[in-house]
Amino acid sequence: MQAQTHLNDCFKGAYGQSAELTSYAPGRVNLIGDHTDYNDGFVLPAAINFGTSILASKRTDRLVKVIAIDINNEQLSFDLDDVSFDDSALWSNYIRGSLIELMSAGEDIQGANLLISGNVPQGAGLSSSASFEIAILKTFADLYQLSLSGIDAAKMGQGAENNFVGCNCGIMDQLISALGKKSHAMLLDCRTLTYNYAKIPTDMTIMVVNSNVKRELVASEYNTRREQCEQVAKFFNKSALRDVTLSQLEASKSDIEDQLYRRARHVISENERTIHALTALNDNDMPTLSRLMAQSHASLKDDFEVTVPELDILVEILSAVLGNRGGTRMTGGGFGGCVVALMPKALVEQANNAVLEQYQVRTNIKPDVYICTAEQGAFTA
Ligand code: GLA
Repeated sequence: MQAQTHLNDCFKGAYGQSAELTSYAPGRVNLIGDHTDYNDGFVLPAAINFGTSILASKRTDRLVKVIAIDINNEQLSFDLDDVSFDDSALWSNYIRGSLIELMSAGEDIQGANLLISGNVPQGAGLSSSASFEIAILKTFADLYQLSLSGIDAAKMGQGAENNFVGCNCGIMDQLISALGKKSHAMLLDCRTLTYNYAKIPTDMTIMVVNSNVKRELVASEYNTRREQCEQVAKFFNKSALRDVTLSQLEASKSDIEDQLYRRARHVISENERTIHALTALNDNDMPTLSRLMAQSHASLKDDFEVTVPELDILVEILSAVLGNRGGTRMTGGGFGGCVVALMPKALVEQANNAVLEQYQVRTNIKPDVYICTAEQGAFTA
């Protein structure tokens, strides 16, 4: 992220005044529970030390002016009374969509001058877009003194994706970006939106490794997975796979097409693993977490089919170092992006070296390793 003084200078240079405020929202990494959120299930993410910063000041008219420092200083503006999808600056649709949600909820806002800068790796499955949406909502909440809760903001951010951007995502990314807690992961029930925090043991580190396989066809593949899950829930006459048990699924196996059966088996078993993982994390029970994370990865690979060979290779390299002293799996939506590993601090150097020595040799791609800490969300009290 660019230094604050540099950003202040850029803001002043562009708008002829100092920013009134700076808001910030983090990206996230999910420890376990993927493709469960839109099935009304459970997830265990943490907000991380990468995020989106927005410097802002109010305007008295209806214009929103934006400068995106990290996208070649691209500049644009739009009118709050005439917000339309912008094919030529796709990044700006996260702002547009979020503000439409805010206005549809009846919030009274005017325009703003904005300068945006972020360091969440793009397209890596660390929720750069959710961090952007939540940062925008936090900016307008603070500029116009709106009484927006973290849950309101998360729903609006998700609404921006679902109703405007065209990704049928669940609520995990926006909710953890809004309500993450320092040094903690969050077990979120995506049906009731109730949550518990679980402390990351102090001797543990969260390592995230970017495969640098750019995610492709994510939105279409993602939306297909979601439809498949909904199809199986409908078969059981339930509103979501959350309400189907593994034994019910097994009993109907012969009536369900094999691919759909495997999609559902992933979701139902992943929900169980995620709840179990909360207890293991609270008990600092690494062998159990290690097993649950390995099972999660295998299920995402074989049943849900959202990994790519590069993610499988990273998990292989890391688990050879960690054994049952730590856990590793792909994280987020898949189709490229990152793996997460939770490991004792004492193993970080060895794990890092193994990734650097082996990944590029096996894939011809240079990986990036991020050491992550769990951080506060933008709306956390
Ligand atoms: C993406 C979506 C989330 C969630 C994950 C998979 O990050 O935005 O809602 O579904 O994929 O767990």
